[in-house]
Amino acid sequence: MVLKPATLARLLAHVLALTPMLWLLRDAYLGQLGADPVAELTHRSGDWTLRLLLLTLAITPLRRFSGWRWPLGYRRMLGLHTFAYACLHFSVYLVLDLGGYWAQILDDIVKRPFITVGFLAWLGLLPLAATSNRAAMRYLGRRWGLLHRLVYPIAALAVLHFIWQVKADLREPLIYAAILATLLLARWPQRMPGGT
Ligand code: HEM
Repeated sequence: MVLKPATLARLLAHVLALTPMLWLLRDAYLGQLGADPVAELTHRSGDWTLRLLLLTLAITPLRRFSGWRWPLGYRRMLGLHTFAYACLHFSVYLVLDLGGYWAQILDDIVKRPFITVGFLAWLGLLPLAATSNRAAMRYLGRRWGLLHRLVYPIAALAVLHFIWQVKADLREPLIYAAILATLLLARWPQRMPGGT
């Protein structure tokens, strides 16, 4: 059986998106997560959630500035991978960090602002993931586009979540904030009268 180039490219994109997760699971299995494995799992899964979210947001500007249509074919896939990483990140927190004391999450949501915004970002991803299929697109019509604009506040919450939990060195979260600002600015003219 010979795979078409487009199918091969999609397969490769899936493999690339899954590699950090598989690497993380491999390191966990081999006991190579350092002195604080739970923190390492939380940080790496959080980092990759944010990276994939920004990559998903980069698709539309890439399409606009390059004129290529093919990146659009990867947007839904990247969005769903983002959601998978967000679920892994959240599960690490629920299962390993809270260690089964799940009622504690209510306390954390109220008392720790960075958890509040992280949780809101994860909640926001739920309807987007649930409607990332053709049937939902057809059913929602124009409302689908409106709903999926939620991705912008979600990305802002995700960056805020990162900034808020950093104790000293803000450089890394600020780099993500700058990337997000650039991606949002790159979309701006589209919404202006006469924009494409
Ligand atoms: C879209 C959703 C989310 C994104 C993009 C995200 C992203 C991140 C990022 C980038 C970090 C920092 C990683 C680093 O230090 O290198 C982080 C840390 C963390 N996140 Fe999230 N997160 C999300 C949702 C959540 C949720 C729902 C929870 C739990 C309710 C959560 C709990 C945590 C915790 C406990 C840390 C580690 C804080 C520390 O070490 O002090 N996150 N997250």
